[in-house]
Amino acid sequence: MTGTESEEPQLRRAVCPGSYDPITNGHLDIIGRASKLYDEVYVTVMINKSKKGLFTVDERIDLIRQVTSEFGNVRVESFHGLLVDYCKQRDIPAIVKGLRAVSDFDYELQMAQMNNGLTGVETLFVPTNPTYSFLSSSLVKEVAAWGGDVSHLLPDAVFDALSRRLREQ
Ligand code: PNS
Repeated sequence: MTGTESEEPQLRRAVCPGSYDPITNGHLDIIGRASKLYDEVYVTVMINKSKKGLFTVDERIDLIRQVTSEFGNVRVESFHGLLVDYCKQRDIPAIVKGLRAVSDFDYELQMAQMNNGLTGVETLFVPTNPTYSFLSSSLVKEVAAWGGDVSHLLPDAVFDALSRRLREQ
């Protein structure tokens, strides 16, 4: 028996990090595709205390859990700190990010190179489904706040939560 045969098989893990305020169909598309490529996908709400969200971190996590439960291999968490430290703690070697357009690439490349330089973690870019290439949580919130229809851009549970939140304001 060689040394490798006695070792536990390594789970292939990846993280899809983000603000998810709230999760959109664009995020869900990337998470679903990552869940087919990896054994375990961590969807992690990165806490940014200087940015006040429309939804609390717990509300975001709850919505993400509801809409990703169908995938079966997705875990949802939050983290306050550097993404590379989170990856180390969870033994995650890969970050999966969606790229919507060339305009995303500059900043995403900088972060990927910084993160790789810090700990060696790899970033894999998945091209966004063209249906969602214009989609962001910020735009959805702005359009919805002015009464525009965003129902086709969000999972039903998220659309309901957003409508309720905007009515409360
Ligand atoms: O959904 P967003 O806001 O585009 O996600 C950006 C996010 C949260 C993934 C990014 O800001 C991040 O990784 N933040 C964690 C703090 C960190 O590690 N910063 C250094 C990046 S090189």
